Amino acid sequence: MSGRNVILVGFMGAGKSVCGRLLARRLDRCFVETDDMIVASEGCSIPEIFKRFGETRFRQLEAEAIEALALKADDVIATGGGLPCRDGVMETLRGLGLVIWLRGDLQEFLARARRHGARPMLDGRSDEDLIALLKAREPYYGKAHVTIETSGRSVDQIVGELVAAVRAQHADVSPGGL
Ligand code: S3P
Repeated sequence: MSGRNVILVGFMGAGKSVCGRLLARRLDRCFVETDDMIVASEGCSIPEIFKRFGETRFRQLEAEAIEALALKADDVIATGGGLPCRDGVMETLRGLGLVIWLRGDLQEFLARARRHGARPMLDGRSDEDLIALLKAREPYYGKAHVTIETSGRSVDQIVGELVAAVRAQHADVSPGGL
């Protein structure tokens, strides 16, 4: 890995945004979300992009966002749930920094994601469809450097583990850590 970013991957509702923002604060780093990069460049919301241009266009915009991530150094980056799930993307992300998968219980994720709304990938999909979607995505998420189990854990506990994972990585290269 050449980059020094911390990159969070995982399914919708895994807590990438909430935990990423707190992690960035703890590490005194900037926090970036790929969804926000897309919304800022397109000037409209994610549900609107899906509705007006379809998922294929959204995935193209994600590919552009990945290219733009090459300019980031030292940031904490939360990715959209589907962003890493194409061939070669996890390898690119791994080159940009420490990639961490927030793994957990699908029902917990779905409850959280549905509570906050605005997830076009949930619209019209049954639980069975979403189980299949997660299964298809897991091999990609599984290429992360580190996996953190989030089930039944508080946000504080998860952020604590994230901080520890980042410090362990730096301890590997520079004795004394951060
Ligand atoms: C998506 C997840 C969303 C967002 C878009 C598509 C997906 O991000 O990128 O709605 O395909 O899983 P979150 O993972 O932050 O919900």
